[in-house]
Amino acid sequence: MQGHAQFPNLFTPVTLGPITLPNRFVVAPMTTNFANPDGSVGDAVHDYLVARARGGFALVITENIGVHPSGRVMPRMLMGHDDSMLPGLSRLATSIHAAGAKVVGQISHAGRQTKTATTGLPLVAPSPIPCPLNREMPVELTLDGVRQFEQCYIDAACRLYKSGFDGVELHGAHGYLIAEFLSNYSNKRTDIYGGPLENRMRFLLNIVRGIREACPADFALCVRISAQEFVPDGIAIPEAIEIVKRLEAAGIDAISLSVGVYESFNRLSMITGDPEGQWLDMADQVRRHTQLPVMGVGRIKRAEVAEQALQRHQVDIPLFGRASFADPELPNKIASGRSGDIIWCNSCNICLGRSARPETICPVNPAVGREAMFEFHQTPEPRRIAIVGAGWASLTAAWVAASRGHSVTVYDTSTGLGGIQDWRARVPGLEEFADSTTALVGRAKRAGVRFIHDTFEPADCDLVWAVRRYTPFAVNALTDGRDALSSYEVLETPGRIPGDEVALIGQDLATAEAALLLASHGKRVILRCPTRFIALDGHPGYRESTLKAYKQLGVTVETSFKGAIAQCKGALVIGEIGPAAAIDAPEAQWSTPFSPTRVDHWIADAYEPNVLTRTIYEAADLALAT
Ligand SMILES: Cc1cc2nc3c(=O)[nH]c(=O)nc-3n(C[C@H](O)[C@H](O)[C@H](O)COP(=O)(O)O)c2cc1C
Ligand code: SF4
Repeated sequence: MQGHAQFPNLFTPVTLGPITLPNRFVVAPMTTNFANPDGSVGDAVHDYLVARARGGFALVITENIGVHPSGRVMPRMLMGHDDSMLPGLSRLATSIHAAGAKVVGQISHAGRQTKTATTGLPLVAPSPIPCPLNREMPVELTLDGVRQFEQCYIDAACRLYKSGFDGVELHGAHGYLIAEFLSNYSNKRTDIYGGPLENRMRFLLNIVRGIREACPADFALCVRISAQEFVPDGIAIPEAIEIVKRLEAAGIDAISLSVGVYESFNRLSMITGDPEGQWLDMADQVRRHTQLPVMGVGRIKRAEVAEQALQRHQVDIPLFGRASFADPELPNKIASGRSGDIIWCNSCNICLGRSARPETICPVNPAVGREAMFEFHQTPEPRRIAIVGAGWASLTAAWVAASRGHSVTVYDTSTGLGGIQDWRARVPGLEEFADSTTALVGRAKRAGVRFIHDTFEPADCDLVWAVRRYTPFAVNALTDGRDALSSYEVLETPGRIPGDEVALIGQDLATAEAALLLASHGKRVILRCPTRFIALDGHPGYRESTLKAYKQLGVTVETSFKGAIAQCKGALVIGEIGPAAAIDAPEAQWSTPFSPTRVDHWIADAYEPNVLTRTIYEAADLALAT
């Protein structure tokens, strides 16, 4: 069925003040580090945003655009702090309009939630209290200083207007400067900018008033706030309702509701397994008290979830954040009844910066920010390429190579699709990794890749690219002769563990998740971790969700474990146990399906998303260069 008939609310127009959108697909603001070093629009950020407009999103809200150099959150943050930014911003607005979408620029200052190492300037905030994460003392703004920063926001908004943007969104969420004024958590002032809500809102309302006076009425003015900050003294829903009422009275055109500050970061970023549409109920509680159009957020990726939120009037606009990183064509695919072709975001949060690269990267969409490279010029020399093994990196190489005109065949066992990520999908809460595998296989097949299972014919090809998989080490060497398995072996085949009691020793994500898998199979599990935190190589969000699941399943965790491995009772599972043990361990081993005798290039398969992503980018680059 075509999307318009299946999801009628998603394809119904909506109005945000002077802007009318033909559908409800809107890209959430997301910082990318794709701008030029001076903060101007370059090809990377331009092409990335235009691709979302071409993909059917009716409105693109840009990443936060800095209003002053002291408020940069990233070295290559988009900036709107002076007129030298105008040509790039105008080019961006023109291109997004040409692609059929509207553009709203989100403007922001990070306040205390950045570092002098990034800005080159002292940090500023309403009160001299460091962010508990960044731990750098900000300078308390004087009254004159506050007014200067109000003017910075107004001037940046005017620049967006001059550049042809359809509107501006004030970033008043996530603990940045406006939020720092709004919230008792970070604002301890005793002057007219602190104390009662009326005073804490003064900074924001002065900016709203200033923009209204400086820009014509056909320029939309939206505000984003965190309706729940999840920190002591922070904003909670009743106060958020009051803030929204006062913003409505001040004449803004729309409100966007998010959650969290840096200290409660995992609430705002959400990880694999968190509910889809997590904050829609919360948005609804605020929406009941305002006539403003309400934008809501929270792991929205499926049209069904967005449609249901609209049907229930929870929000007027569902924002698509990471789902739009993963697949810029998401709206067009839904509209044309091709939801099955969508490349699903799995909320691994690599894009949030837990990666070897400073800019946004994504394991399921290595084209993000490099869209021009993935326009796929046909190779002058088509080759027959055999790819042995179907991990995510090799599936990516297969898609890219086939899209460039090579004849590509992937060989694997019939149970091997997805490689190590297929194991990961068996861990409770991580099942959606299987959706990503299905999407990557589908993407390769649509590009013309053939899949052959359980046999390998090397004579039929010009090039062999083979997957190799790291086998942590020969674990028995560490256990004084007692039989043990590696955490990888457990993840691959959890049924191999004898008895009811298992001790796992390791500090890595694979071991932490193997413990969860075994507990879900009814084993009594103890995880002994040599370091202070479990899953050291995982995103902090996984650490938190895994510990929560341990509680439910009765897993015992001993951190800073320094005891002898051989003394642990029950079956033994060994993972990464730190540099000292690794030096003593036998050499790392590698394995590959069908053990091919000739290999032209190796493609690694990996467990932890950061390492996995690196292998995917290397595989994509290999296929782009072939
Ligand atoms: C890489 C990344 C960068 C983000 N940058 C911003 C930002 O600049 N401004 C903002 O208001 N929110 C930002 N967010 C939060 C998103 O707008 C959104 O609220 C969050 O990702 C949850 O939505 P999702 O589950 O659809 O991704 C960012 C999120 C991500 C993943
Ligand atoms: S990096 Fe992970 S969380 Fe971010 S868009 Fe890609 S799949 Fe989603």
